[in-house]
Amino acid sequence: AIQQKVNKLLAKMTLEEKIGQLNQYASYKNATGPISSTGNMIDEIKQGRVGSILKVNGVADTRIYQQAAMQSRLKIPLLFGEDVIHGYRITFPIPLAEAASWDMDAIGFSARLAATEAAASGIQWAFAPMVDISRDPRWGRVMEGAGEDPYLGSRIAIARVKGFQGNGLGSLDAVMACAKHFAAYGAAIAGRDYNAVDMSDRTLWEVYLPPFKAAVDAGAATFMNSFNELNGIPATGNSYLQRNILKGKWGFGGFVVSDWGSIPEMVNHGFVKNNSEAARVALNAGSDMDMEGRSYINNLPILVKSGRVSIATVNDAVKRILTKKFELGLFADPFRFCNQQREAAIVNSPSIRNAARAVAQKSMVLLKNEGSLLPLAKNLKTIALIGPLVKAKKDMNGFWALPWGVAHETEPVSLFEGVQNKLGGQTKLLFAKGCNINDTSKVDFAEAIATAKNADVVIMAIGESYDMSGEAKSRSNIHIPGVQEELVKAIQATGKPVVVLVMGGRPLIFNQTADCVPAILYTWWLGVEAGNAMADVLFGDYNPSGKLPITFPQSEGQIPIYYATKNTGRPLINDNDRAYKSAYLDVSNTPKFAFGYGLSYTTFKYSNLKLSAKAINNLQSIIASFTVTNTGNYAGEEVAQLYLRNRVASVTRPVKELKDFCKIKLMPSESKTITFVINKQKLSLYNQQMQWVTEPGMFGVMIGSASDDIRLVDEFELLKR
Ligand code: IFM
Repeated sequence: AIQQKVNKLLAKMTLEEKIGQLNQYASYKNATGPISSTGNMIDEIKQGRVGSILKVNGVADTRIYQQAAMQSRLKIPLLFGEDVIHGYRITFPIPLAEAASWDMDAIGFSARLAATEAAASGIQWAFAPMVDISRDPRWGRVMEGAGEDPYLGSRIAIARVKGFQGNGLGSLDAVMACAKHFAAYGAAIAGRDYNAVDMSDRTLWEVYLPPFKAAVDAGAATFMNSFNELNGIPATGNSYLQRNILKGKWGFGGFVVSDWGSIPEMVNHGFVKNNSEAARVALNAGSDMDMEGRSYINNLPILVKSGRVSIATVNDAVKRILTKKFELGLFADPFRFCNQQREAAIVNSPSIRNAARAVAQKSMVLLKNEGSLLPLAKNLKTIALIGPLVKAKKDMNGFWALPWGVAHETEPVSLFEGVQNKLGGQTKLLFAKGCNINDTSKVDFAEAIATAKNADVVIMAIGESYDMSGEAKSRSNIHIPGVQEELVKAIQATGKPVVVLVMGGRPLIFNQTADCVPAILYTWWLGVEAGNAMADVLFGDYNPSGKLPITFPQSEGQIPIYYATKNTGRPLINDNDRAYKSAYLDVSNTPKFAFGYGLSYTTFKYSNLKLSAKAINNLQSIIASFTVTNTGNYAGEEVAQLYLRNRVASVTRPVKELKDFCKIKLMPSESKTITFVINKQKLSLYNQQMQWVTEPGMFGVMIGSASDDIRLVDEFELLKR
């Protein structure tokens, strides 16, 4: 029925009106200020020259623009899109932090609440999830993704798409998801944002495409393409990616938006000679909507009239966009997302804030806890909180906190406030900053040392500021900046017990701290409830359960570093014997902290692995079952991980590939049996002809608590059929 309505409307549209639907502008200010980069956007909307706007926040403003659309000849409603990356008005942990929870319900719920808030604020479209795999922590946008692994990344892509879209487009609390950035953006050479990507088809299909495919299968309404070129062809002008794979092989029925200005940027790439060519190439390659590039609105009329772009191609793009507007119910009521009462009731509501705290608790990763220093007792007499991030607020939100331009400084709970909230007045809290994040001077160390000496325990907060990871925030040096680690060393020299919280948007390098400090909690950027959630973990009201979704290197020289490495012809077996092995002279091959790693206040024992068969054919499955027991004193959650190794195949396989995981909660002494189904999908590979097949042979089964902490092993044979 929707298709009939779309066709009927399309038949009434002029070429200019059709092209208007493919045009998206940004609004830089609210409705009372200058409204657009063009300055006359309201007039353009009335002329039917705009299909969508990004960066309009709030019902009052979206209503003004929508009213203008209702004055256009065909009254086609506008779509409002926004970077709802980790929460809307209430900031949740950054996506990489949420990925560390390995908790699909929590991740889905976080997206659900972000969608609920955004939709109540007039938005119908989140430019999320970012499902780019990245194995390069120099790239600032690792903070927005789910880390390095295609399987984990795919599961998270599904959770987020479903979370955003809820009960489906048309519900008042659903927004369209946008899987981005298609494709391979996370593999920018040398981790430098916007850089070229050069990648084999095998790596593309095995590692970078699976989360996008998962997003399509989960029903993602839209895709965004990417700034990078892939093997010489900019993603925006890439027919192989957008026409052959996405809209062809995968049957994606939604529409593709360009990234901001990525259509005209094809001129800079040296791929087209001018903006008009950029428009022609991008539309033909399957980019349906032009985000802030003005290439379509300015060039498509003449391109179509001169026959260089077919009207059929334009119609296809317009239909895809109109279909979504119908599905969202915007034609029935263009103002259905413009309800001020609903906005007031939902946006910034305490229940969403509480949920943000719960997700933040789950996102932290306990990296070290020697002598069970954590959790801290709540009746300590004096605690010193030291470091540049102890009282930081804005930095708790991290990059991509909304809305842009609004002062966030007062909103997030700092670590200091969180500890204060937790302990009330009974513990004396001391504070010293010690240094700023990027300081090279140690002038304030003396005061910090004196402060530490007066305390029973020191809690330190070090790391990155909110603007050091994110878009255009690549760093060649990912050590903790400035003299922060030296501050840790100086404080530790006082002999006081020291707990360090590391905050940031990417895996950072902090070997000195990691080697010497007894207790380290990696908190990432946790959002508005950061301080409260950190205090919950520090004082034992929440037992940490996060596991790293990305490998932490010891040195930048190891990058790209990831667990699913190939064995090579000269594998390093013994680190003391590196001669003529695939190794470095100056650093071991091992990461500082491995993918899947994370401690708890309790301990877990794995036992009793049973495979339901020792040999199967590819129509059969194997059930791997095993028991996990909580052997410590705290109730806790464990993420049990299944890795497989295809021992010999027609193409070499990684030494380990994550194929399943399960997060369970256990009371002290409690045991649970976990089962994983190993089926054809988990045993398949792309053969030399890039066909997705199974091949007979032996498979190693590894079950463990981290990629480098395998507790149970077995093997089975996949037989010829
Ligand atoms: O959604 C983003 C994208 O991820 C990067 N460039 C800008 C877009 C809109 O803000």
